[in-house]
Amino acid sequence: MKNLVLTGFMGTGKTAVGRELSRMLDMKIVNIDTEIELSQKMTINEIFKNYGEEYFRNIETGLIKKFSEKENVIISTGGGAVLREENMELLRKNGVIFCLNASPATIFERTSRSGDRPLLKVDDPKTKIKELLDSRRPYYEKAGITIETDGKSPLRIAEEIRELFRCGR
Ligand code: S3P
Repeated sequence: MKNLVLTGFMGTGKTAVGRELSRMLDMKIVNIDTEIELSQKMTINEIFKNYGEEYFRNIETGLIKKFSEKENVIISTGGGAVLREENMELLRKNGVIFCLNASPATIFERTSRSGDRPLLKVDDPKTKIKELLDSRRPYYEKAGITIETDGKSPLRIAEEIRELFRCGR
């Protein structure tokens, strides 16, 4: 059985949608960010601060490699996983990849509730979100099946993904 992979920018709802899908499909969910924190015994903020982004990306790739070898699990990746083609190739081998999309305004609203995203700890997060979205757009566009999330509940998004997953697995 194939894996169901969730990608997409920060604040597009991967975690909440993943939880719904896990319940609906009775599939275990692996959150790569959580696995990174567990493996390093540090928060993502601490990893970025102490070792930098490149170090974080290398750990991320190592864990994507490990979990993409599993079967029948939901893999929720961090928003930057799409940046390395190696990650996407690994995830694609045994998975159907979905890419959640949201407007900058929605992303700002969702991400401003927590301070756990080092890339958005800047004076002007709104502009930073727009810049990152623009520079990453080509990666998200080719990552997998695009799912628009603006104005939809996690349940509705999960239902949409469930139907597409059934066709694509
Ligand atoms: C990142 C997204 C974060 C986390 C890290 C870097 C990114 O995950 O992996 O802060 O580069 O977009 P979420 O998308 O789950 O917030």
